[in-house]
Order: sequence, then C-alpha cells, then structure tokens
Amino acid sequence: MAVVTDTTPVPPPADLPGIVAVGSDHAGFALKQELAAHLRARGIEVLDLGAHSADRVDYPDFGAAVGRAVVDGRADLGVAVCGSGLGICMAANKVPGVRAATVHDVTSARLTRQHNDANVICLGERLIGVEVAKDALDAWLDASFEGGRHADRVAKLDALGAPDAEPAR
Ligand code: RB5
Repeated sequence: MAVVTDTTPVPPPADLPGIVAVGSDHAGFALKQELAAHLRARGIEVLDLGAHSADRVDYPDFGAAVGRAVVDGRADLGVAVCGSGLGICMAANKVPGVRAATVHDVTSARLTRQHNDANVICLGERLIGVEVAKDALDAWLDASFEGGRHADRVAKLDALGAPDAEPAR
C-alpha cells in the first residue's frame, strides 16, 4: 500500500504566541539554542536576544532583555536560560510587568501559566536535560491562564512592581 505523506504546513493553534523572545548567558547558551529551534519547529517566531556564543557574559543583561521585549510588546512571551535558571529569572522579574518563573518540569511549567500567568519562563541548563526542558516549554505554551480566583492574585503581583507601589508591610 502506498504511504501518503501530507507535507502541508500545519498552522499553529490560534492561542499560541506569535513571537517568543529567548535569551541566555553563556551557561544557558546551548539549551537556549535547542529551545529556539524547538519553538521554530512549532511555527513560532523567535526573537533571539543573545547570547550568540558560549563566551562568558552576565545573566542580568539577558534576563532584562527578555523581560523588556515582552513588556514592550516586541514578543508575546519570553524564555530565559542560565546555568541554574535562577539568576536570569531574578533579572527578568526586575522589569515591571514581567512575571517570570523558574521551571524544572512539565508540572511547574503548566502551573505557572495556569495560576500565575507567567509571561517568561526560566530554565537551568546545568540542572535539567534538553528533553525535559522542551516538554516543559510545550506544557507552558499549551496551557492557558485560568483567571477566576487567580486573576486578583496576579493583579496584586503586578501592583507590587508598579512605580507607585506601597512599601510592603
Ligand atoms: C554562571 O556561571 C551562572 O552563575 C549563571 O548561569 C546562573 O546559574 C546564575 O544564576
């Protein structure tokens, strides 16, 4: 029997982001490249903010770059990678309007979209494998913010980063 291969490109689902910003330091460079390729394979445009090699750089520069791209609308979502996924996430979260979360697996990735409406996820190349990272990225992309009781909490999160925010008590 003849095998028919359908080569028609499959458009991404309507609720997938059009553009995802990616960034990393040197310690996250290889995983960032893998995740960028994975995004492109899913039909998502990638805004690659560097690093563009494994030469030593500083993660705050790249976490901030990813966060700014999301907040100013050049990208719909962001992915940031460093060695641990921690420092670059701290940097991204310094940008008002960013809700960045370090994820280690499918479950943390899914939950941070459903409950926290995370607009940036951060991963640690030295801590998780490539396949787990890709699965986590997919879980985050394919999940949706649940709203409801989570909406007020996310609004409170965003208010903490607003320029006129009350000092915490
Ligand atoms: C770089 O050595 C490493 O400190 C950085 O990639 C990251 O893990 C920091 O949080």
